[in-house]
Amino acid sequence: MITYVDATSTARRTHGVIPLHGAEGFEGMRKAGALTAQALDILTEYAQPGVTTARIDQIAYEFARDNGAVPATIFYKGYRHSLCTSINHVVCHGIPDQRPLREGDIVNIDLTLVVDGWHGDSSRMYPVGEISRKSERLIEITYQCLDAGIAAARPGNTTGDIGAAIQTIAEAERMSVVRDFVGHGLGRLFHDEPNILHFGTPGTGVPLKPGMIFTIEPMINLGRPHVKILSDGWTAVTRDRTLSSQCEHSIGITETGCEIFTLSPTGLFNPLASRAGA
Ligand code: MF3
Ligand code: CO
Ligand code: CO
Repeated sequence: MITYVDATSTARRTHGVIPLHGAEGFEGMRKAGALTAQALDILTEYAQPGVTTARIDQIAYEFARDNGAVPATIFYKGYRHSLCTSINHVVCHGIPDQRPLREGDIVNIDLTLVVDGWHGDSSRMYPVGEISRKSERLIEITYQCLDAGIAAARPGNTTGDIGAAIQTIAEAERMSVVRDFVGHGLGRLFHDEPNILHFGTPGTGVPLKPGMIFTIEPMINLGRPHVKILSDGWTAVTRDRTLSSQCEHSIGITETGCEIFTLSPTGLFNPLASRAGA
């Protein structure tokens, strides 16, 4: 059985209960989402050959500090950084370090800023210099997957409709959907109910209701879907070492569809779209 609860009446995560947010939650998410998107926009100019991911982490930390926000990942389950930087075959949760980005790398930067207690969670792909055609294709399909998931995010549909829409697009291109990480409810909590699987069967899962707030964050691999976690306890890589790509928005279900909280104010969310226009 699925239980929904008015978000204002829940103090913390209760298993199996899906919070439904009102106007206050949407307003809070708009602010947090906009600041996260602005930070990710600023990072575009740092995703260049020779720049370390530690430097990118530091830029985000300073941006958060200067704008009255806190990166949600600092001290989250022992994580110590402001964001995750996942390069090439790293699927997600790559840890910023002193390795300089190299021409041809594709890097996902995943940032969650907390503003007035609300969590804006978003990630994008950043091509470093010129990238290969196959990297471009992977990124292009990943963004199509997210778009299709968002298009399915409306009352009357279920979480399974979102997953099915994503899986259909990825597999039609002979790419694969990572199963080990999922989208998640969020709001005053970083990770809440419901889980959003990026694969699945239409009509199954949780019925979507106005007021639900969650992320969609598909991870798409050029090869097989399987991942392994490195000995640092965080970094997830493809087992077959093929390239992996991801993008993420935080959204809220409305009466007629959904609102995207983490849209780029300058149209930089999709790096290939903004390049093509340049
Ligand atoms: N931002 C990630 C997400 O999309 C979570 C990162 S948790 C960390 O849910 F600890 F690895 F940073
Ligand atoms: Co994220
Ligand atoms: Co997330």
